[in-house]
Amino acid sequence: MNVFSLAFVGDVEARYPELPWASLDPATLAPDACAAARRFWSHNAFSEHASAIAMAEVVAALGRAQVPPELWRRACAFPAQELVHVELCAGVARRCGGAVGIPFEPGALELPLHPGLLPLERATALVVRVFCLGEAMSLRLLAGNLRATTQPLARAVLMRIVRDEAAHARFAWAYLDWIAPRLSAGERQRLGDLLALDLAALAPLTDVPPDGAPASGLGWMAAARWSAIVARTLDGVLARLARYGICRRSADVASPRDLATG
Ligand SMILES: [Fe+2]
Ligand SMILES: [Fe+2]
Repeated sequence: MNVFSLAFVGDVEARYPELPWASLDPATLAPDACAAARRFWSHNAFSEHASAIAMAEVVAALGRAQVPPELWRRACAFPAQELVHVELCAGVARRCGGAVGIPFEPGALELPLHPGLLPLERATALVVRVFCLGEAMSLRLLAGNLRATTQPLARAVLMRIVRDEAAHARFAWAYLDWIAPRLSAGERQRLGDLLALDLAALAPLTDVPPDGAPASGLGWMAAARWSAIVARTLDGVLARLARYGICRRSADVASPRDLATG
């Protein structure tokens, strides 16, 4: 088991002086809320770190697949944006009193290789997993967190992240609009078959953080709201994928509502 630490991030406040860092003073927070905020923002930083790595792998897959330059160029900006998100979340965690180490399995940061798929099939499979599902879920959850957040620094950071995540989520459907006319029936079916794995991989994102602590305006929404957004987003994404002919098998996959409450 490895432990994710934010020591590598450096002086975030100097790098992003436009943010209201001084507005967050841990001495003014209730101890429970402060501890929950340290956990929440540290987990957020880890999620953003995993996103940066996943994005970089998808960008490489898009290049190998020789997708149109406008799509590849658009995606090339995303890993650097995810890295900014890591830094900003780390900065908030430090302001709350310090980041906490996040234990993780090294395999959790690896994308499936999808052996046997041709480069373009693999690129499409990764776009479905990372963008259609992962980024759509991130966007909706972060937007919900933003609505529940009153602390100025946490709001400023979430606003910046939500703005970028919206562009990431839009990329999913721009890519599918391009690839859809080129997909054979067999390719659509294989993508649908992979949705079981894709949904299982979403589970860490859909966990209610921070350990179900009540919302305190410091960055996260109430647990019940969180679960409702997970269920509604998964329903919406699966319906939209189905319109492209990418349908999950119903028998062997947990339902979105199972994932949301599991
Ligand atoms: Fe992000
Ligand atoms: Fe993102």
